[in-house]
Amino acid sequence: MSKQLTNIFVTTPIYYPSADPHIGHVFSTLIADIINRYYKQRGYQTYFITGTDEHGNKILEAATKNNLDPQIFVDKIVNNFKQLWQKLDIQYDCFWRTTMPEHCARVQKIFNLLRDNIYLGKWVGNYCVQCEENYNESQIIQQDDKKFCKFHHPISKIEANSYFFKMSEYTDWIKNFLKNNKDIIFPSHRKNELINTFLTDKLPDLSITRENLDWGICVPNDPRHTIYVWIDALMNYITALGFPEENDELFQKFWSSKNVKVIQLMSKEIIRFHGIYWPILLYALKLPIPIQLIAHGWIVDSNNTKMSKSLGNAINPQEWTKKIPIDAIRYYLAKEISLAEDSKCSESALIETYNADLVNKLGNLVSRVNVMIHKFCHGKIPSLDDSEIFQNDEFYIKTLSTIDTFDQYFEKKEVGNAIKQVIKLVEAANQLIDKEQPWMLFKESRINKLERHLLLLTNAIRIIFCLLSPILTNGFHRVCQIMNFDNEIVKWDNIKNIKLIFNKKINENKILYKRLTI
Ligand code: MSP
Repeated sequence: MSKQLTNIFVTTPIYYPSADPHIGHVFSTLIADIINRYYKQRGYQTYFITGTDEHGNKILEAATKNNLDPQIFVDKIVNNFKQLWQKLDIQYDCFWRTTMPEHCARVQKIFNLLRDNIYLGKWVGNYCVQCEENYNESQIIQQDDKKFCKFHHPISKIEANSYFFKMSEYTDWIKNFLKNNKDIIFPSHRKNELINTFLTDKLPDLSITRENLDWGICVPNDPRHTIYVWIDALMNYITALGFPEENDELFQKFWSSKNVKVIQLMSKEIIRFHGIYWPILLYALKLPIPIQLIAHGWIVDSNNTKMSKSLGNAINPQEWTKKIPIDAIRYYLAKEISLAEDSKCSESALIETYNADLVNKLGNLVSRVNVMIHKFCHGKIPSLDDSEIFQNDEFYIKTLSTIDTFDQYFEKKEVGNAIKQVIKLVEAANQLIDKEQPWMLFKESRINKLERHLLLLTNAIRIIFCLLSPILTNGFHRVCQIMNFDNEIVKWDNIKNIKLIFNKKINENKILYKRLTI
């Protein structure tokens, strides 16, 4: 990340409210939380929003099925997301709902700001309510006399009056914008897919309103129409910051100032909206476009099919939170689910990863070092006068270089590989103990060597937990308690300052991670 940047704005997709959010909803939000914590730790000013996308036909249909007024329906279930985020230790700054009056008023103002690009026309479309998306003939699957989208949702034929946004006029602009902004979409192959799939011909103008659908934000001065749910939803990223109000401090700080980066998480099937329409709308509004889109793959089942509620193959994360430590869930998803490709996910793999890495390697390391410091050093972390002693120490050098390699992988969005670097350091620490056998050094009264090892091992534990603190939020606090690391000791600016732990009295050992059985 460039040094001039100081403000980072992190977003997740806003979710259609659902009575039981599934694992596919979790990944973007967890990664967003980890990214937000990572930059905050490194001294950036950050702001992290998530929320719910509550208008449109899909929600109306679900409310009707439940015999509820749509507002009452969404009010009832929106807390399920908030509760899940709380359980998973997702620390957002703002939870934005598209039914909030502030959002609705701002979207109407934005609609007016875009008027020059909008005209009234006739829309003839093939619409999928589940995807809230129009499909062209070539994308439709025909079975007998029925039509389906690629996710096998039914498609309905629509003919109605509609306001259109002149997307066609922006075809060349968006093509150039995508080509000229190398890092705008991660992984980069999704950018090429967008260009090759949707931008080979002129973009069709986009129908941005719905006639006779009450459950939405009314078009200013023409209440027979409501604003298309995707336009309403995309705007959340800026309405949540106060745009286009006069009092827009957050917007200035996290969007329009020069030193801003906006990191937007989503999964790959909604990259078309974010990678094409979203930048065009920002450009048409004459706003800066400081966005980077991370369009991760899907969480799939053992047959490589996308997990979804409608297919009944999705994992329920609520069930996980009842029986599995939160650190285990966060760690497993961050390490094993790739940001670039689709990834399989299962409870047995989670438990295996947790037992192997957090119980056997990391937890065990903390226990061993804590117990030895009590046993051989009167419970006090040793200190050494001569800083030279560290210069050529292979383990100390590896400890320090892990900080840089962790950051390099993280910046490349290879979160799993970043974590693997830290686990290599944990393994090296355990090997050091096995090889040097501090208990033998004690027996042989080679106290200098013993103290040096225990100091370097404790320092490695400090650095390991600093690096993993955006992921292991619970373990980080517990290790700070066990090892008596205060705020100064684990501050990012002090990460290379081993002296802060000299002569610190540590606390009694407690098991950090308990083994789980499958
Ligand atoms: N409301 C829209 C997004 C509007 S953003 C301005 C929406 N909502 S959703 O609830 O259907 O999906 C939210 C996110 O979850 C999307 O990024 C979607 O792709 C993601 N996932 C749903 N199932 C998934 C997997 N099995 N794997 C990974 N993510 C997937 O779309």
